[in-house]
Amino acid sequence: MLPTITWRNRSVIMIDQRKLPAQEIYVRCRTYIQVAQAIEKMVIRGAPAIGIAAAYGLVLGLMSARTDTGRSLERDFDKIYRRLERTRPTARNLFWALERMRAVYERDRGLGLRALQKSLLAEAQAIENEDAETCRMIGRHGRDLIRDGASVLTHCNAGALATAAYGTALGVIRAAAEQGKKITVFADETRPFLQGARLTVWELRREGIPVVLITDNMAGWLMRQGKISAVVVGADRIARNGDTANKIGTYSVAVLAKENGVPFYVAAPMSTIDASLEDGSAIPIEERKPEEVREIGGRLITVPDVEVRNPAFDVTPAKYVTAIITERGVCRPPFKFGVPFKFGVGPS
Ligand code: MRU
Repeated sequence: MLPTITWRNRSVIMIDQRKLPAQEIYVRCRTYIQVAQAIEKMVIRGAPAIGIAAAYGLVLGLMSARTDTGRSLERDFDKIYRRLERTRPTARNLFWALERMRAVYERDRGLGLRALQKSLLAEAQAIENEDAETCRMIGRHGRDLIRDGASVLTHCNAGALATAAYGTALGVIRAAAEQGKKITVFADETRPFLQGARLTVWELRREGIPVVLITDNMAGWLMRQGKISAVVVGADRIARNGDTANKIGTYSVAVLAKENGVPFYVAAPMSTIDASLEDGSAIPIEERKPEEVREIGGRLITVPDVEVRNPAFDVTPAKYVTAIITERGVCRPPFKFGVPFKFGVGPS
């Protein structure tokens, strides 16, 4: 399985997703600032993976805290927390993981700095381990939606690289392939960051799952010709009514799927659901820097100062979603995800 992110010797190691598939390079972060920058620059990306990274970032930050009691610890914690929280606004999992870490901090801050650091590390590792298990459960619940011989379109990368292991959308595809079904994946290249062309293709090739790369504007025509049996994508934030934020371009795929009678599935852990939002209208959409659109692989492809828009995500209204596959099971419309709840403390 792919090593997306691991904790080793008081540091966090991540595979550099900006460099794949040309180079397999690992980045070592020794400070929480380095982790925050790695998330911002998309060394690590994908909603569950950035949650795990933020949790480890908090551990690194608290490892260099100066004193163990009172206001200075409080100040350090808040500063580190706020820096990590500012990295990327859309993925709910980032905030969910940080909230879990805060619950441990509140519980154990009176035990002394050493004990606090130990329990924070244990919580971050629990978040990582649980995510790998969660993805397998998503796969188990979703695999029966994919028939033998299916051609499955996916957008962006919601695979092992975007999670602790196994993936969400790609987890469903992996689990179906593990049942012995013959599946062909159509991977949208996913401009501008090319997660599909660079990461999904790389992951699936390593797994031996057949993959066909297409540019984003080809999906509709393939659906029209009956070449796509299902769409499976991941999610960054899901509102109570099922409106789903995911990589820019997902909305267009969903509309095309409905028009062509192709089922459109979202695969995501419960930690992606934002129970505080009634619908998708208030989901914050990250706008990234214009160079990502003006350039491909660092090479300018247009007029240098052309005005650019670069929203990194869009919101697919729930009416286009056939089902949402979570670790708890498959949810069908009308979606009514829970009421706001406070996270308890996980195993320590
Ligand atoms: O900008 P990215 O690469 O972090 O966006 C990732 C996605 O949109 C994924 O589909 C989503 O985070 C789900 S990952 C399991």
